[in-house]
Amino acid sequence: MANESYFRVLGGQSLSGEFLVQGAKNAVLKEMAATILATGEHHFYNVPRIVDVEIMAELLLSMGIKSEWASIDHLVISTPSADDILPLADYELVEKIRASITVLGPLIARLGKAKISMPGGDDFGHRPIDMHLEALSELGVKFTSSHGYIEAEAPSLSSNEISLEFPSHTGTDNVLMAAVLTPGHTIINNAAREPEVIDLGMMLNSMGAHISGLGTSTITVDGVEQLRPANHIVVPDRIDAATAIAAVAMNRGEVMIRRARLAHMEMLVRKLKDTGLDFQIDNDGFVVKASRRLNAVNIATLPYPGIATDYLPLLVSMLACADGDSIVTENLFSGRFKYVDELRRLGANMTTSGHHVAIHGVAFLSGAPVKATDIRAGAALLVAATAAEGETRVIGASHIQRGYQFLAKRLSDLGASVELVEESKSA
Ligand code: EPU
Repeated sequence: MANESYFRVLGGQSLSGEFLVQGAKNAVLKEMAATILATGEHHFYNVPRIVDVEIMAELLLSMGIKSEWASIDHLVISTPSADDILPLADYELVEKIRASITVLGPLIARLGKAKISMPGGDDFGHRPIDMHLEALSELGVKFTSSHGYIEAEAPSLSSNEISLEFPSHTGTDNVLMAAVLTPGHTIINNAAREPEVIDLGMMLNSMGAHISGLGTSTITVDGVEQLRPANHIVVPDRIDAATAIAAVAMNRGEVMIRRARLAHMEMLVRKLKDTGLDFQIDNDGFVVKASRRLNAVNIATLPYPGIATDYLPLLVSMLACADGDSIVTENLFSGRFKYVDELRRLGANMTTSGHHVAIHGVAFLSGAPVKATDIRAGAALLVAATAAEGETRVIGASHIQRGYQFLAKRLSDLGASVELVEESKSA
């Protein structure tokens, strides 16, 4: 246990009260990258205090762009003039977060060049960036690669009609951020439709960009010469909201999920109603109620508006204790099942086969040490732990902290017994 922070959880409490949803990680990280596009002071509100935000701030700092917290959720980013931005994203930082690839589009748009290490990411499979590079090439960017770095050169960009092979989330972010300063009319076909992409697009429009079609599969961008700094409230995080829903579902109870937007979670909520959960819209979020053991259901992930891959580990945890057999299918990241072995350590009865998990619901789980391997897998284990009899240690708290702020406290406020044991105390 030495040198590794963990969550200590005592399972079995029913939950009640209010869960305040944080700002969306997968929106704010790209919005931070977008500050490369305009000189001046950018203000972001509802920013989650998560490790990935700190890493993105460090990455920007390494390029000459400074970030400073003005209050608990208000981040100020100061972008110098283009000449003082270093278009280099180095290995150490890029390797830590996938979202770092989204500095590529803005660097190319603003400086006509970029040198960026091949991105790392999560521990759940191969995550190429070929679609990003192909789409940006269609705007006139020339790429070369050597020594683990990709170098982009684009003295001038020209608009085009681009068709993405798959509605890649960060791929769409990158093309969008490159296109806003590209002269002419750019069309992005098969664009990602995630609420976080819409949020980025809305922010860019508020900076002076001309983007239309956000939230549809065809986004069009009319390039402008320059943008002004952003003043933006980050959209609420639907995966954070789903994490609270999963905790309520596994422990029973009734909780107000404040600030959550049900409209961003439509397919998920429809499926969760089939499990027996009840949802009531409230003016600032919704109330979720779980009064009995869940029904088993079959689920498959798809790009938005389908059920997001990021929900799947949470759903697998929930179905571990459902009444009956479920099959879940992961269609985006083939290797995203490492947490299944950990759930088995808690007594879950489930097997994987290719990109499917077959789950035979059990009546109860029992506490054991388990290991988080990525953000969402970690959250799913934490939620399962709140429902497991006795004590569970979720080792690898740092993975969870990459994407969740104050999660132990927010779950404890609902009545769960969750404590973060920091590295220094446990060593
Ligand atoms: N893909 C390619 N080539 C590419 C890009 C993607 O083959 O150039 C494939 C991927 O390998 C994958 C699929 O397309 O099979 C979807 O990938 P996508 O590009 O949409 O995912 P991403 O942009 O890398 C973002 C989120 C993920 C989330 C996915 C899916 C960020 C920083 N990450 O990743 O979030 O799971 O979209 O919605 O926005 C997380 O928050 O924990 C997380 C992993």
